[in-house]
Amino acid sequence: MTTSAPGKLLLFGDHAVVYGHPCIVTAISERLYVSEGEAAGDTRFLDAAIAAWGKQGTTLSATSTFSGKYGFGSSSAVTVAALKMLRPNATHKEIFETAYKIVLDIQGVGSGFDVAAATVGGTILYGEGGKVLEQLPIKQIPLLVGYTGVKVDTATMVKSVAQKREKEPEKVGRIFEAIETIVLEAKEKMIEGDWERVGRLMDFNQEYLRDLGVSSEKLESLIVAAKAAGAWGAKLSGAGGGDCMICVAPEDKKEFIEEAITKAGGEVIHISTNAEGVRVES
Ligand code: PMV
Repeated sequence: MTTSAPGKLLLFGDHAVVYGHPCIVTAISERLYVSEGEAAGDTRFLDAAIAAWGKQGTTLSATSTFSGKYGFGSSSAVTVAALKMLRPNATHKEIFETAYKIVLDIQGVGSGFDVAAATVGGTILYGEGGKVLEQLPIKQIPLLVGYTGVKVDTATMVKSVAQKREKEPEKVGRIFEAIETIVLEAKEKMIEGDWERVGRLMDFNQEYLRDLGVSSEKLESLIVAAKAAGAWGAKLSGAGGGDCMICVAPEDKKEFIEEAITKAGGEVIHISTNAEGVRVES
């Protein structure tokens, strides 16, 4: 048997979600596959899944259609796919809760949005450690992705925001509140399919992420390039400091924008959004 779970891209609410505010995340077409067999490399998440739900002597191995360097959430996807392998009839709730605990035990920090996306798939409004989990009635998102070439450690970025929050609690609190307002409007506009407004909201969200100190020169140059080439709006996705830039754009500008991202030194990554959650493949 083989199981799989999707990777993810965080669309709105990055960092604020760590403090209980909502975010919007979409599951992407890149997937992580788990089957029986001896694993090589980093087996911490597989081992923890086996320790939670496996029998003695169980072995699992993982392969993926994407590189871990992009920040697409390979750790949470592998954990979710492994749990599905061990208990194919488990509910989404059981898988989410067990996988989130494993990811927290190993990584120390995390809001669980990536675990939720890997489990239920689609595009979701997520918050409060899973108490808020609402699947949005959206089909494809006109999203383009540019990788900066810089891999950043999420825990380091989360810590830097925590330090800023300790120094300036009121300012950071206001930023999180403002991000929440953006997230809630983005949810409505995405459902309506008003992508031009969604782009503007990405720009606003990016301004606050800049204020939090989590953007980078490389991210900014990809954002400028994408917008100059016709994107409706752009922002970083995830922890920041590197990883990926995302933008929404009209179909007829796509090629032009991809060229601009490449010229600015980014790597264009082709994905589709709103992918199915964890599943048994065969
Ligand atoms: O870097 P990523 O893709 O794992 O995203 C991190 C997003 C944060 O909000 C910064 C942390 C979290 O766990 O929500």
